[in-house]
This record gives sequence, structure tokens and C-alpha cells, in this order.
Amino acid sequence: MLKEIQEASDYIRSRGVEAPEIGVILGTGLGNLFVKEFKKPIQIPYNSIPHFPISTVEFHKGQLIYGEIKGKKVLAMQGRFHYYEGYSMQQITLPVRVMKMLGVKNLLISNAAGNMNLNWKKGELMLIDDHINLQPDNPLRGTNYEVLGSRFPDMSQPYALTLNKKLKAIAKEKSIKLNEGVYVGVMGPNLETRAEYRFLHRIGADAVGMSTVPEVIVANHTGLPCCAISVLTDDCDPDNLQPANIQEIIEIAGKAEAKLTELYVELIKQL
Ligand code: HPA
Repeated sequence: MLKEIQEASDYIRSRGVEAPEIGVILGTGLGNLFVKEFKKPIQIPYNSIPHFPISTVEFHKGQLIYGEIKGKKVLAMQGRFHYYEGYSMQQITLPVRVMKMLGVKNLLISNAAGNMNLNWKKGELMLIDDHINLQPDNPLRGTNYEVLGSRFPDMSQPYALTLNKKLKAIAKEKSIKLNEGVYVGVMGPNLETRAEYRFLHRIGADAVGMSTVPEVIVANHTGLPCCAISVLTDDCDPDNLQPANIQEIIEIAGKAEAKLTELYVELIKQL
């Protein structure tokens, strides 16, 4: 794994990526507006990077984008990898390890998620305060490389308080509704049954999605402060569940993207 991280990082550096300070992961339907913020971006398709998987979900673009935003050097993933695509947990989190190796100091994550909190509505945003890992595997399973992090990483505060505090202040100032809650990560790719939504809400989750948790585990393992925002794309009320429509999920994500972009661009300015 160490060799893979090194080779991928070396290649990305050879393409002109110099000391990125901030990493960004753009989730489903969220990869369009944010990337327009880049000045003179360099684009590096995943399929050119040694050891990187290839995004197999057709609506996920598959490339790294590097450039300046608000005077900061930012490296963004336009499209991410999911466990349900068939890759290992180590493969889907390789980009987080590579970002750390390249010098990234803060990681800003986004995703599309189902909304189980009936006080909120689809189209709104949720700042992830904590998570529950219900994915069937863990990116830290297997040999632990002490140079990367410890065998038993602490998870008492997986989302950096300093970043969350800034995001809440920015949202308030910009009058953007930013709910705060718990995200549960499941494998997918199917959406949940009514009984599953009821269960997931009862165990303490407000939003459910198929990503983010492995990336956050690795970020914590490797000492990379991170934050994550879910775009709530569908209402998951078990007593009134409408059939899921992936096109609508993408459409809702696209509509909420402007708010997410505003928050992250301002956060980048303040970092
Ligand atoms: N469940 C799981 N993942 C999701 C959902 C959902 O309802 N909506 C968007 N991603």
C-alpha cells in the first residue's frame, strides 16, 4: 500500500500539482458548480493515475482537479469511489491517503444522502456532526502501517470541530439553512426498505448514504482534519415512502449545489 500511495502521489506531482493545502471530495450530483471556482485548473483523469480505481457510476465524473480558489491551492475529486462498485475499502480510500501524502491539511467532503429527520426537507443541507458505520468492511482492516497512523485510531471527534464551527458561522451569515446531525453509512447500491429507514432512524441517524464513512475513517487514521456536508436529496419517511428516483436525487443535489459551493468556497477563503 505504501508503494501505491507513493507512486500515485509522484504521478500527480509530475502533472503539476504542487503542495495542495485543501482537499475536496465532490459527491453525487455535486461536481459541477464547485469546479467552476477554480482558476486555471489542471485536470487529471483517474484512469491515468497509477493504482487509482475508475469511477464506474455514469453520473460521477472521474478526475482530479487542481488549481487555486480564493488564493488557496485546492485539489478536488470530481467523483468518488464507492464500496458497492466492487472495489476494496483500501482502494476507495487511496485518494485520501494520496492527498495526505501530497500535503493536504484539511479535507472537505460532500455527499448526497437520504433524509430521515422529519423536521427537515429534501433540498436542505446537513453538516455531519458524527456518523455510524454500517458498511460491512473497514479500510483499516489488515496490516497497519504505523507511518500512516495507529492501529486503534480514536474516533471521539471524527469531524473537526474547528471546521464545523466555521461552517456554522458561514451558513448563519449567508442565511443558508444548515442542519446538523448523524450520518449512517451503508453499503448500497439499493436504497432502503421502509423497515430499514425506520431502523436507521431509531438507532440515531438523521441521514443515510453509501459513501463518506470510509474516507473519514482514513482521514482520522492519518491525522487529516475533515468535515462533511450531506445534501439531503430524498425524504425517507417509512410511513409515507415514495419510490426512489435516482434522476430526481441527482436533480435535487444539483439544485442544492449552489449552497454547498458557497459554504465551501467561503470556508476555503478562511482556512
Ligand atoms: N439511501 C441511501 N443513499 C442515498 C439515499 C438514500 O435514501 N439518498 C441518496 N443517497
